[in-house]
Amino acid sequence: MQKRISPALAISGEISLPGDKSISHRYAMIASIAEGATRIRNYSTGADCHSTLSCVRALGIEVEGAGTEFVIQGRGLDGLRKPAGDLDAGNSGSTIRMLSGILAAQPFGTRIFGDESLSRRPMQRILAPLERMGARIRARDGKFPPLEIQGGELRPIDYTLPVASAQVKTCVLFAGLFAEGETSVTEPVRSRDHTELALREFGAEVTVVRQRITLRGRPKLTGRELAVPSDLSSAAFFIVAALLAPGSKLSITGVGLNPTRSALLDFLVGMGARIRVPNLESSHGELVGDLLVEHSELRGGVIDGALTAALIDEIPVLAVLGAATEEGLTVRDASELRIKETDRIRTVIDNLRRMGVEAEELPDGMVIPGRQKFHAAEFDSCGDHRIAMAFAVAALRGDGESVIVGAEAASVSFPEFWETLSACASG
Ligand code: S3P
Repeated sequence: MQKRISPALAISGEISLPGDKSISHRYAMIASIAEGATRIRNYSTGADCHSTLSCVRALGIEVEGAGTEFVIQGRGLDGLRKPAGDLDAGNSGSTIRMLSGILAAQPFGTRIFGDESLSRRPMQRILAPLERMGARIRARDGKFPPLEIQGGELRPIDYTLPVASAQVKTCVLFAGLFAEGETSVTEPVRSRDHTELALREFGAEVTVVRQRITLRGRPKLTGRELAVPSDLSSAAFFIVAALLAPGSKLSITGVGLNPTRSALLDFLVGMGARIRVPNLESSHGELVGDLLVEHSELRGGVIDGALTAALIDEIPVLAVLGAATEEGLTVRDASELRIKETDRIRTVIDNLRRMGVEAEELPDGMVIPGRQKFHAAEFDSCGDHRIAMAFAVAALRGDGESVIVGAEAASVSFPEFWETLSACASG
């Protein structure tokens, strides 16, 4: 599918966005192994979170509902059933990595696979800790999906993550739920903590001391009513679009502003962005607020170290923004970007160059000089949702009509993206 995007003078109005992808996955998985019903409102409409729902259904869990509201009938820690066939994680790294922690503890074997992009993504990072817990898993070439997981009894672990990854942390904590005793995970830098917050909501005992998270195994998890805040990583595309277009004044309601995710706002405000957060409140342990964004002149900046890990999903759209700032943008310590849905350093640089924007590729990042002009171009999502949406934002600043090839990729996290964009962009 191709989308044609014309330049926009302003991004304005009030928009609401789909539920947070990271939180939706976690609520659905934990609800499945909790006792009793969990009602989830504002569940992500993205294909990734629907992959998680189909996997838990295949594991014998009743999921009722449609759209953004689902009721999941949890069957307790020992209630999953052997699926009739293979589990399909689609494009979703979160589904395969996090669910594997649960599958590794089951008294039956499962095979879980994904699409072409997921089949190239590294799984060694979950295999190592799960094997130390006693799991037996076979992966293609020892490291890629499909995974054949021979479930069984697990022992607790005290594990130090070699890479900052919330998916791996979650996988180990989920496996730890089934092991008798305490499982601990120490992270090199603090990653998003939705798992810790969600597990506490369902009744697990989770303690966090600096970068070390400890969980007591075999907790009683109880189903409950939950609402997912809107996804800040999806909001990022609209925030950047509004900051760049001169007449913009945009309001985005009910966005998840968990401090382990909201570095984006601090980074932008530090560069001179006019963003206000009225109505901040806490919901199921998560911070939620409205965002008011106005067009701003931005200085530019550097993303490196722990900040890179905190902004990892937003870097494609920040790269677009960087080219329009005063001093440009440098990204370092981001080699993880090379193993996302695409090699996002390559796909970002290729698309920036298509619109005549200069950018230097580094092994672990990129350097994008500021004050550049955006020319209309044909962009290629390469099947990556965040690339499709980042370059739709770039296209709004073009000097003519641009085309996004592979625009359907946006549905992985944000099926309503194109509709929402045309509702708030005015030429
Ligand atoms: C996610 C963690 C991040 C992020 C991904 C979602 C999560 O991946 O890029 O989009 O929900 O835990 P890593 O865990 O690989 O850093």
